[in-house]
Amino acid sequence: MSIISNCTASAIKDAAATLIKGDLVAFPTETVYGLGADATNKDAIARIYKVKGRPVGHPLIVHISSLGNLDKWARDIPEYAVKLARTFWPGPMTLILPRTDLAKDFITGGQDNVGVRVPSHTVALALLKEFEDQGGLGVAAPSANRFGAVSPTTATAVEIELVEYLSKNDQILDGGYCNVGIESTIINCLKSKPSILRPGWVTKEMIENTIEINLDSIPANEEINDVKASGLLLSHYAPKAKIVLNKKPRKGDGFIADISHPTPNGVIRLASPVNNLIFAQDLYKAFRLADEKKLPRIIIITPTNNGIGVAINDRLKKASSKHT
Ligand code: TXA
Ligand code: MG
Repeated sequence: MSIISNCTASAIKDAAATLIKGDLVAFPTETVYGLGADATNKDAIARIYKVKGRPVGHPLIVHISSLGNLDKWARDIPEYAVKLARTFWPGPMTLILPRTDLAKDFITGGQDNVGVRVPSHTVALALLKEFEDQGGLGVAAPSANRFGAVSPTTATAVEIELVEYLSKNDQILDGGYCNVGIESTIINCLKSKPSILRPGWVTKEMIENTIEINLDSIPANEEINDVKASGLLLSHYAPKAKIVLNKKPRKGDGFIADISHPTPNGVIRLASPVNNLIFAQDLYKAFRLADEKKLPRIIIITPTNNGIGVAINDRLKKASSKHT
């Protein structure tokens, strides 16, 4: 495995060729680092599951370079989904749509739908464009961590997570840190109205303002959660340290809280975000720092439940349920 820290045009060409050959390339996105493989190559996708230790049957998100390529992967795209894509792509949003024949069972977990996203990180976009120029159609990329663990937001974190499992020809592209810091908003677009499966930077209010539809009232006879999403499992996104929410920290505990909370004596401060956006950016880095320091416990004062705070609180609930 090689780590490419200087993502020049020729390095991107080489990374795209690596994907075309069926090897894996971990790359930065604006949310978290992804572990990429050619989404049409069954063997390459099988390696993603192996490297992640992810149970087979959990669907993967297909990454493309622009909305123009969406109809290769998805059909019967509702008007509201096009509006969302035009507004938020490239960006931290995944749309679940009815699949075309290109999206095989090994991508969708056997479901008749597929998750698609156009990321906004410059390295991700350059890689996807180059991959398509070399004849590729889409890059499947789950977060580049072992199953159930914390998503990596730096190339070093990817290396620590996966070094034992990657092969000689695989690559990690180092594109610096991830601006958003938590995974994309996943939106189910299989019904007459969208619903949020995983909250993220794109909030319910942003979606409602864009498509002028209130997401709360679900039409009778339409179930919302008929899709499988492993990120919806409780006990996900968890560090080794035990996560405890809104308790007073004791000596030797790690502590994450906004900057207005002082650090008690003997407590190890892991992050002091000044607002919810920085909270999201710093959260997974702070989890990893706690594990590096082998802290048994992290006390977290939860952020206000607005904007990206809703997504942070969703992840904190999942991370804290691991030990309860
Ligand atoms: O921000 C992100 O979305 C990152 C970056 C790398 O793009 N990717 C990511 O992938 O978080 P992953 O596989 O770690 O989480 C994607 C979640 C999983 O819970 C998966 O089950 C769900 O999305 N998912 C993918 N395709 C789906 C589909 N067709 N139907 C329902 N859920 C789907
Ligand atoms: Mg993941």
